[in-house]
Amino acid sequence: MLKEDSRDKQEIISGDSNTAGSGVSRREFLKLGAVTVAVPAVVGPRMVQAGGAEVPVHGPGRVPVTLTVNGKRYQADLEPRVTLLDALRDRFDLTGSKRVCDRGECGACTVLMDGKSVYACSVLAIDAQGHQITTVEGLMQADRLHPIQQAFIDNDAQQCGFCTPGFIVASKALLDRHPRPTPEQVVKGLSGNFCRCGTYFGMRGAIAQAAGGAKPAAAARKGA
Ligand code: FES
Ligand code: FES
Repeated sequence: MLKEDSRDKQEIISGDSNTAGSGVSRREFLKLGAVTVAVPAVVGPRMVQAGGAEVPVHGPGRVPVTLTVNGKRYQADLEPRVTLLDALRDRFDLTGSKRVCDRGECGACTVLMDGKSVYACSVLAIDAQGHQITTVEGLMQADRLHPIQQAFIDNDAQQCGFCTPGFIVASKALLDRHPRPTPEQVVKGLSGNFCRCGTYFGMRGAIAQAAGGAKPAAAARKGA
């Protein structure tokens, strides 16, 4: 018998502190560790039969995810349960979209997906692949604010500001759909977003300004 083998057995029998307490010697433990490290952290999807078709099953481990955000490609290995909002904020450092309710109720996380407003907290990052995502950061025009962003400033349309990025993105979707929205269309277009500070008057002024160059609401109030 090899010397090493007999030493390993002796360690197991003696309960030496070099054994892992579970009957595994330090040498065996290191061998096991080497095997574990060699297993790749990212695996491709398994294919299963469902409804007569082969469908991919992702996870539960991390899978490669590629997103197109503001015209740029972002890649990360993410668990399939990760939301678009968490991917944007925690992996890609795009923190303009805010996490407030994290359950599809407040609109603070609103982004555009192929031009339509969606709650980023309610879309899985893995499902956002292949779509064009636009966040509030993507509305900037070079180093200048988008006219809607400027209109929110001009109309004093924020207080704490937590809801503001979501409202600006929702306003963009509204004005893309209705360049000259009626008051009813404004109410409907922003109905998925909440402002706890109650800056709705300013927001309506901002949308009127962005839509048609109306005077800022504050100036209009003073009769400027
Ligand atoms: S954080 Fe997404 S809807 Fe509130
Ligand atoms: S400005 Fe504070 S929640 Fe809207």
